[in-house]
Amino acid sequence: MNILITGGAGFVGSSLALHFKNKFPSGRIAVLDNLKRRGSEINLQKFKENSIEFIHGDIRNPSDFEPLKKAWDIFFECSAEPSVLAGLNSSPKYLLETNLVGTINCLEFAKQYCGLFIFLSTSRVYSISPLREINLVEKATRFEVAPNQSIVGVSPSGISEKFPTDLSRSLYGTSKLASEYLVQEYATTYGLKSLINRCGVIAGPGQFGKVDQGVYTLWVARHFFNQPLKYTGFGGTGKQVRDLIHIRDLISLLEKQVQTQTGLEAPTFNVGGGNFCSTSLFELTHLCQEVTGNRVEITNEKETTPVDIPWYVSDNEKVQKRFDWKPKHTVKDLVSDIKIWLSNNQTLLKSSFC
Ligand SMILES: NC(=O)c1ccc[n+]([C@@H]2O[C@H](COP(=O)([O-])OP(=O)(O)OC[C@H]3O[C@@H](n4cnc5c(N)ncnc54)[C@H](O)[C@@H]3O)[C@@H](O)[C@H]2O)c1
Repeated sequence: MNILITGGAGFVGSSLALHFKNKFPSGRIAVLDNLKRRGSEINLQKFKENSIEFIHGDIRNPSDFEPLKKAWDIFFECSAEPSVLAGLNSSPKYLLETNLVGTINCLEFAKQYCGLFIFLSTSRVYSISPLREINLVEKATRFEVAPNQSIVGVSPSGISEKFPTDLSRSLYGTSKLASEYLVQEYATTYGLKSLINRCGVIAGPGQFGKVDQGVYTLWVARHFFNQPLKYTGFGGTGKQVRDLIHIRDLISLLEKQVQTQTGLEAPTFNVGGGNFCSTSLFELTHLCQEVTGNRVEITNEKETTPVDIPWYVSDNEKVQKRFDWKPKHTVKDLVSDIKIWLSNNQTLLKSSFC
């Protein structure tokens, strides 16, 4: 099995590279990354130790794919400017050139050289205003979705693929949705076998979390290193809810997808931890205290940014049925596994999180 991973030095890409090299030791696993994400360079040593090929390249440049012109069974497209805040107070140029033009370069390459193209998309393709209009009930530790909803695609099971995408959704979400459309066109026009996974929050060991991306891993790390935190938006109480998917659960799904050979004209799936692995920041704080034994100062900022949403839980029904898969790791597993990673690599990781 030969596997190419763009953005392969990042959190998801590097976890995939190491997993598949272990599973297919004689396969060729290659990673292309421009190392823009802080921390991604730390993975290069592990690539060397595991005979994973690394190409220091940029998906914005078609010529950077030159050394990869061979047949690949699978192409995982994991590169991105993944911040929902990108372009808000700065130019969106890098975001659009990577997340949109870069996808076109990946697709052009994939249509010639790759068997199956798996695109890592995001729950951020759903429109912000209807997400903010969902009927919620404020409980002691979190917002909960009310049983009666007038918007299509939302229920107590979460947000399904039917939820509206037709209104504004952040520059990041729009760049991903536009890329999804292109993946579909390459599937129908050129017969490129492909799959689209709209992931909710992905978390776990190996993630260099920051405030605008990977905040749940950051939350654990700040507790571990005794650093202050802040609840932001929705009254500053930390009751906003997300579902989290453990990187190991995502990998177990991708492994099943890799084995699939039919019905691959770019079907789209919501993928997340679902209600089973959902948390508010407030609840997460208590888990972090329990697991790390530390209590840190948490201030609050009541003001909500234009791209923030109070509740998002993935309705996994479609992907569960299609691939006979479901997430197995709880929020507590996630916090514990992140803590173990931090504690085993304290010196290396401290400067990344403090
Ligand atoms: N982590 C999450 O919570 C989450 C949620 C939903 C979707 N996703 C999607 O999953 C994918 C992987 O995310 P991640 O969490 O691993 O992010 P990450 O930032 O850890 O990894 C992305 C990698 O892409 C690289 N990169 C950025 N611009 C590049 C370019 N122009 N050329 C080559 N490489 C470039 C970065 O250096 C980084 O190593 C992304 O497409 C992201 O949008 C992530």
